[in-house]
Amino acid sequence: MRTLNDKVVVVTGGARGLGKAICKRLADDGAKIAIADLLDASETMALCGLSRDRILQKKCDVSSAEDIEALKVEVNSTLGSCDILVHSAGIFPTCPFDELTFELWRKVFSVNLDSAFHLCKAFIPGMKEKKWGRIISISSNTFYIAPPALAHYVASKGGLIGLHRVLAAEYAEFGITANTIAPMLTRTEGAEEYFAQQQEIFDMALEWQDIKRPAEAADIVGAVSFLASEDAGFITGQTLPVDGGTVKL
Ligand SMILES: NC(=O)c1ccc[n+]([C@@H]2O[C@H](COP(=O)([O-])OP(=O)(O)OC[C@H]3O[C@@H](n4cnc5c(N)ncnc54)[C@H](O)[C@@H]3O)[C@@H](O)[C@H]2O)c1
Repeated sequence: MRTLNDKVVVVTGGARGLGKAICKRLADDGAKIAIADLLDASETMALCGLSRDRILQKKCDVSSAEDIEALKVEVNSTLGSCDILVHSAGIFPTCPFDELTFELWRKVFSVNLDSAFHLCKAFIPGMKEKKWGRIISISSNTFYIAPPALAHYVASKGGLIGLHRVLAAEYAEFGITANTIAPMLTRTEGAEEYFAQQQEIFDMALEWQDIKRPAEAADIVGAVSFLASEDAGFITGQTLPVDGGTVKL
């Protein structure tokens, strides 16, 4: 079903991992796709299979206000103004709090959370004008589990949840919803890199889940597709765990 016919979607972190799978699903839903990532997103462009007038990639550091402004200008002039913002770009280096430097703390906050500030500042005005919009960010169920060595990450992902709860309140009158998704540990390129030396963490995740199989990027995309759709217009300010039954709110 082409539930997102001609909607313009900006997906951050779309070059790989969850973002890449999200781009493919929303393209199949009928959306036009703008991919914002530090990395080259040619593989995602090919995977989406859209004509050149319906997709673009922009090299962009989501923690930079200037890069986000340049992204907005290109999206507006090429695809039209953003209807749906999906913020998936994020980093998740582990580090025990004793060893955590303020530099790493700030780095994680700037990529995971400051980015949401810049993105929302850039794209909400266009949504307000249209009186319709969807803001969806990928948080994490670690906000609820609070595992060790992730204070910086969990705090940044909790910040995303808090931000979206307030965005929901402030922009409901403009037909804009704001929600977060809280995935389980998912075998993406990023997870494989960060946890290369800690493979036991993937087994531990299975113990926590009711559904005893590893999460895949494909498990997340349905939730994004639904929250982006017209059908989800009365759902806002929520965090949806997509985690095989690990967290029950
Ligand atoms: N994979 C998991 O286990 C898991 C679980 C819960 C939540 N998450 C969250 O899901 C999101 C996606 O994770 P993933 O597993 O797909 O990771 P990934 O590393 O596979 O993909 C992340 C993408 O974000 C991009 N990115 C990173 N920093 C950027 C920056 N400053 N500017 C622009 N792009 C940047 C990367 O280049 C990459 O393409 C992250 O926010 C992560 O915190 C992941």
